[in-house]
Amino acid sequence: MVSEEPVPSVRLPRVPASGYLDVRNTSIAYAGRDGDVVLAIDRVDLSVTQGEFVCLLGPSGCGKTTFLNAVAGFLAISSGQLTLKGKPIERPGPDRAMVFQQPGLLPWRDVLHNVTYGLEMSGRMRRREAKERAGELLELVGLADFARSFPHQLSGGMQQRVNLARALAVEPEILLLDEPFASVDAQTREGLQVELISICNRAKVTALFVTHDIGEAVFLADRIHVFSRRPGRILREVRVRLPKPRDRVRLSPDFFRYVQEVTEVLGSTPAAAAGVVEISKEKGHGNRRS
Ligand SMILES: Nc1ncnc2c1ncn2[C@@H]1O[C@H](COP(=O)(O)OP(=O)(O)O)[C@@H](O)[C@H]1O
Ligand SMILES: [Mg+2]
Repeated sequence: MVSEEPVPSVRLPRVPASGYLDVRNTSIAYAGRDGDVVLAIDRVDLSVTQGEFVCLLGPSGCGKTTFLNAVAGFLAISSGQLTLKGKPIERPGPDRAMVFQQPGLLPWRDVLHNVTYGLEMSGRMRRREAKERAGELLELVGLADFARSFPHQLSGGMQQRVNLARALAVEPEILLLDEPFASVDAQTREGLQVELISICNRAKVTALFVTHDIGEAVFLADRIHVFSRRPGRILREVRVRLPKPRDRVRLSPDFFRYVQEVTEVLGSTPAAAAGVVEISKEKGHGNRRS
């Protein structure tokens, strides 16, 4: 039996700073009831380069949403450093847009006006300009013919595409996506994943995509950061070198190899994933795992 607790000397390889999104030794804790502290994210180090598609993969409750909220600027970190282009992230900004699991569209506005909403609020564009921009984005997400439809007339997958167009309308540099396809059916999800890669490429955005779905992470990502269960630590960074476009990649042996590798990492402890010696509680001897 291998102990669940990592030995204190666990050290992951140093992550070189990208100068874009850099996360250093970052922990995030919540104040629980009765004054206790819930540690959600534990000493995370990661870097994202501009234009990359990075997935954060981990079991439910490991702190993925917490982490994404901190990058969005909705939530303050407890310790460490979280910087975008060298500046600490302290509040939300127009350079980051969040796509939540629930599309949360405004039911009384048609599709076009759901997309223009953020532009109207920010006062960045005149109405006509905003409509033109929204029209282009609806084209990009394949919904040009549904500009005048209302949210209740669309399927879940279509609503999520409107949500994506809405997030892109403010021209963010980074899209933060929190399990955006978790509530659509499997077949629709695969189509949306294909579209998302192409949309991100064309819109030239950097994507930070949270999921607990291994196949989804392998399919989408240039790099996957695999998180442990709570408190979330990075178990391993996996660079996915599958060819792009990835439309047909799902049936390839390489795809399955990545899925297998990531599955193994997810099932391990931080110490085991880092390839360090763990101490068995029962017998008191070391087991080397890699
Ligand atoms: N506002 C909060 N107050 C206290 N604990 C919280 C709060 N939000 C989340 N948590 C706890 O932090 C941990 C991580 O939550 P979350 O980031 O939502 O995980 P994930 O998105 O990976 O499922 C969970 O144990 C959750 O219960
Ligand atoms: Mg979550």
